[in-house]
Amino acid sequence: MEDELVTLARRAQARAYSPYSRYRVGAAIEGIDGQRFAGCNVENASYGLTICAERVAAGAAVAAGVRQFRRVAIVTDSDPPAPPCGACRQFLREFGPDLVVDSVGPQSHRRWSLGELLPDAFGSELLA
Ligand code: THU
Repeated sequence: MEDELVTLARRAQARAYSPYSRYRVGAAIEGIDGQRFAGCNVENASYGLTICAERVAAGAAVAAGVRQFRRVAIVTDSDPPAPPCGACRQFLREFGPDLVVDSVGPQSHRRWSLGELLPDAFGSELLA
């Protein structure tokens, strides 16, 4: 599977800053208006400050004024392809449960809905 969103995520993966884990992640998220934003993981010598690629991509979108998303693509060197971590699931859920999540590894790809990955999520509707 190699569409434009995956290509964008792949380019971002090449820019991953991951000197500690050596695990490179690229992500690209597409708004319902078609705009796309990329991110990579950014690690830190204070390990817990690391930011995942998915959150960097979603943050870039929000900073550009885009808050409604169709799909996120993730590229790693893992097979089976890596699902987003729990923190990223919750972060992405903020913007809706219907997001399609595509993850691409060297040999195969997987697709989920965010709702499948994070059932019974905590969301803003519960704060009312
Ligand atoms: N990582 C991501 O970028 N996204 C995820 O969903 C899982 C983990 C990064 C964080 C860290 O830089 C490296 O992968 C290893 O955990």
